[in-house]
Amino acid sequence: MCGIVGAVSERDVQGILLEGLRRLEYRGYDSAGMAVIGGDHSVQRAREVGKVAALGDAMKANPLAGHLGIAHTRWATHGEPSQINAHPHMSGERLAIVHNGIIENYQELREELRADGFEFTSQTDTEVVAHLIEKNYRALCNLHDSVRAAIARLRGAYALAVVHADEPNHMVVCREGSPLVIGVGIGENFIASDQLALLPVTDRFMFLEEGDIADIKKDGITILDREGQSVEREVTRFEHGADSADKGEYRHFMLKEIYEQPKVIKATMEGRVTKTRVLEQALGTEAANLLENVRHVQIIACGTSYHAGMVARYWIEELAGVACSVEVASEFRYRKHVIQQDTLFLCISQSGETADTLAALRQAKKAGFRAALAICNVPGSSLVRESDLVIMTQAGPEIGVASTKAFTTQLTALLIFTLALARHNGLPEEQEAEIIEALHLVPGQVSDVLALDGEIAEMSKAFMDKNHSLFLGRGSQFPVALEGALKLKEISYIHAEAYPAGELKHGPLALVDSEMPVVTVAPNNDLVEKLKSNLEEVRARGGELFVFADRKADVKAEDGIHVMQIPSVHPITAPIVYTVPLQLLSYHVAVLKGTDVDQPRNLAKSVTVE
Ligand code: F6R
Repeated sequence: MCGIVGAVSERDVQGILLEGLRRLEYRGYDSAGMAVIGGDHSVQRAREVGKVAALGDAMKANPLAGHLGIAHTRWATHGEPSQINAHPHMSGERLAIVHNGIIENYQELREELRADGFEFTSQTDTEVVAHLIEKNYRALCNLHDSVRAAIARLRGAYALAVVHADEPNHMVVCREGSPLVIGVGIGENFIASDQLALLPVTDRFMFLEEGDIADIKKDGITILDREGQSVEREVTRFEHGADSADKGEYRHFMLKEIYEQPKVIKATMEGRVTKTRVLEQALGTEAANLLENVRHVQIIACGTSYHAGMVARYWIEELAGVACSVEVASEFRYRKHVIQQDTLFLCISQSGETADTLAALRQAKKAGFRAALAICNVPGSSLVRESDLVIMTQAGPEIGVASTKAFTTQLTALLIFTLALARHNGLPEEQEAEIIEALHLVPGQVSDVLALDGEIAEMSKAFMDKNHSLFLGRGSQFPVALEGALKLKEISYIHAEAYPAGELKHGPLALVDSEMPVVTVAPNNDLVEKLKSNLEEVRARGGELFVFADRKADVKAEDGIHVMQIPSVHPITAPIVYTVPLQLLSYHVAVLKGTDVDQPRNLAKSVTVE
């Protein structure tokens, strides 16, 4: 959460920083601000409540000129969204700082600094860090040393960028628990929370390790590690097209990303499967060794990624015959575990920077799991760097806050992983071939579902004036229903709950009336007849049903039952395909309701705080 960007250059940095903020806005959009060191070696600052565009407008009237600057887009944690709480924060007139993360011991530091005579103007934890560094600066007269001494006293997570008017040629940046990347330019250098922010200015990046502190000058970068030793960090090139932060012809990033799914699902399969088999070596040289003795899989994730993990549990137990548990990271990290022997720890994360997921991984590495596998979409992310084995999804940058293509590519990667594991556990070759053949059909089937967009938009009108909705699925479609409900609530703000259809009669059926639309996914699997009985239970209570069904499932459109036919799909791959109409439904409901589809209220894309 929160995005930070910084630049030091021959040219004026305001434009670079504003564009960087615009690209980071998915991380937070309560307020935005910028501080630049001008030619007169003073700090100029601008801060506005609301989106980056508001800051841009304000800066048209009062531009900030200078060759060194830092900027921030905020997702409020300590203190309401307001100009006073917006970053950059300053200590006195000469030091400015931007921060992503949470300082847990800020209250005690605040009291101490207050006793030292520092005055606080905001409710943020970040202002404490600004004063702490300034206090050190008064004694040490060196920004790098002052930052190092300050962070030694911080508990929590942070990525920081700091400038001081007395040292107008460089910024000092550091990270611990929050992402930070250095963009390497020619005669200019940059920093940001995410490489996406810097794609207009560079495609070469260095990822800081936990505990690193770096000095960024326009003609040089020096990095010291936690122990103060000088270190080199590898420069990598950005792999995806630089246009990924553009909406192109689409009205919203979310719609663009929904439409990219056939392509990115295919890309996630490429090099990992033949026509009939999984190429196990493509999962890493260690894969065969690692999978051979796995007796249990523990999946950890949050939100949409957690739903992907829930689908995978059905696959892993059915195809590999290996026991599988799935838990949200924020719960897992705070309880005691009984770890079965030879358990593989599997984290799923789009961003690879989700604080709870990373914390769970770090615990797991100490706790005696067999190995840690990550399914992730962001190369170079903390999760990727800290896991033993990685399967990258090939979704490309996902900008819309509501996750879409990340989910379907996670499912694709998880199914490939499952088949590799299943092979070690006796899955017959013919069955592997049957499923891989079915997987090859998925991009085309998703395209067929996308062709229903107009009809789904029409269907969405029935949800516009509703306050509540129910999503039903059975078996591996239950997590799909959960994901559909999550999408609807996060972007349209309609309350949506998902239930396994068989559970309806144990309580939620009491909610059903004509004001409660019930959405159901009904592929043609061995549970479809049972699902149909559940639908009758809803209909008998006056509920209106919206069913996405396989033609062969023979669900009839009648009074109170709207049926949209979905191409026939293999029961194993059905969760991937059936997710797509639910994404489109949520999207169109949100558009009709006029909500901010790409940046829904109170949310941010990458949840790097606890
Ligand atoms: C929902 C959504 C979130 C994320 C969750 C985990 O649309 O995007 O629920 O799935 O915050 O994020 P990652 O996958 O980056 O760990």
